[in-house]
Amino acid sequence: MAKLAVNGGEPVRRKPFPQWPIYGEEEEKLLLEVLRSGKWSVGGEKVKQFQQEFARFHDAAYGVACSSGWAALVIALKALGIKRGDKVLVPAYTFAATATAVIDVGATPVFTDINPDTLGISVEDAERRIGEDTKCIIPVHVGGCPADMDEVVSLADRYGLKILEDAAQAHGAEWRGRKAGSIGDAGTFSFYQSKNMTSGEGGIVVTSREEVADLAWSYHNVGRDRRREWYELVRYGWNFRMTEFQAAVLIAQLRRLPSLIDKRERSAEYLSRRLSEIEGVEPVKRPSGVTRHAYHLYIFRVDREIIKKVPKQRLVDALKAEGIPCNPGYKPLYEYRFLMREVGMSGGGLRLQNTEEVCSSVVWLPQNVLLGCEGDLDDVAEAVEKVLKNLNELA
Ligand SMILES: Cc1ncc(COP(=O)(O)O)c(C=O)c1O
Repeated sequence: MAKLAVNGGEPVRRKPFPQWPIYGEEEEKLLLEVLRSGKWSVGGEKVKQFQQEFARFHDAAYGVACSSGWAALVIALKALGIKRGDKVLVPAYTFAATATAVIDVGATPVFTDINPDTLGISVEDAERRIGEDTKCIIPVHVGGCPADMDEVVSLADRYGLKILEDAAQAHGAEWRGRKAGSIGDAGTFSFYQSKNMTSGEGGIVVTSREEVADLAWSYHNVGRDRRREWYELVRYGWNFRMTEFQAAVLIAQLRRLPSLIDKRERSAEYLSRRLSEIEGVEPVKRPSGVTRHAYHLYIFRVDREIIKKVPKQRLVDALKAEGIPCNPGYKPLYEYRFLMREVGMSGGGLRLQNTEEVCSSVVWLPQNVLLGCEGDLDDVAEAVEKVLKNLNELA
């Protein structure tokens, strides 16, 4: 039996996986247009064009492009009227920005458990945590897999909650044929470097409600009003504007997105088939309501009995040593003491079972792993099999 690379053996793979980000002549052409135009920020046409094209692609009427996915969450929450004293339902399995944005507008995140199939918010658990001050729910489409939006919409309708979809990882994803980000009152996306379309940094709010779009635009632009003079500020806001350079890159990235989604979906299907043949791992299920999965992450579970013997981090380190880019993913948000201090809780009291089970057992592969050929995915499967067959070397 081959020795594990982490213990000095020969790795399954030495070649890199497809590079990310990718770009082509279109990005270069559009960037040069901006450079030569001298309109690098306000006054140019690229941000406007990108907002329209991205919103249209996501079946939303309006888009407000901004500087990051976190900034998009902040301005969307403000535009939805979330304020000091309000409570917002936030799944405990997400990037910290989902919760810090809530804190940044003066509201309090209420951490809720997740559905172990979609890894999205558990509406059942969320319902138990609703109180008088609860005003909003933030379903997060983790890894590009839409949360169960039927359940989220039904809960929000029953309790009069606003829905803000955190679609930072879900460009082009669909729930029952509807685009993630445009099912709730507003949706936000990130264009950070690792995301499925990127301008290095960047974000956008999409919505079909004109008043929400107007307010989001105002908050991201120092409290201006689109219809008034430049120095007539009407409310407290920030400068979260996107530059024309970012928008130029994103226009080209958006054109490439549909073919990349197809590619990632095909690869994920193949990899799931390969991993299903290996005892001890299981791909995270693709819920039947997901008609388009963005696969920002490919996520698989390791059997609980294995994790009891070998901590997940050691498995991840062993896979990395075999040449497979992967990581252990999130820990429950309530384990960040700085966050719990902000929400006025010590942190010791909260335990969410599904969140903890998922955090201890899943492994993430980044989306660029899905952009290569079947041989690349065979290497992933081979490495997983090799590590699991040699667990005694890690125990
Ligand atoms: C689920 C989620 N929400 C919000 C964000 C914040 O986006 P950004 O990094 O662009 O601020 C991210 C980015 O990693 C994310 O994954």
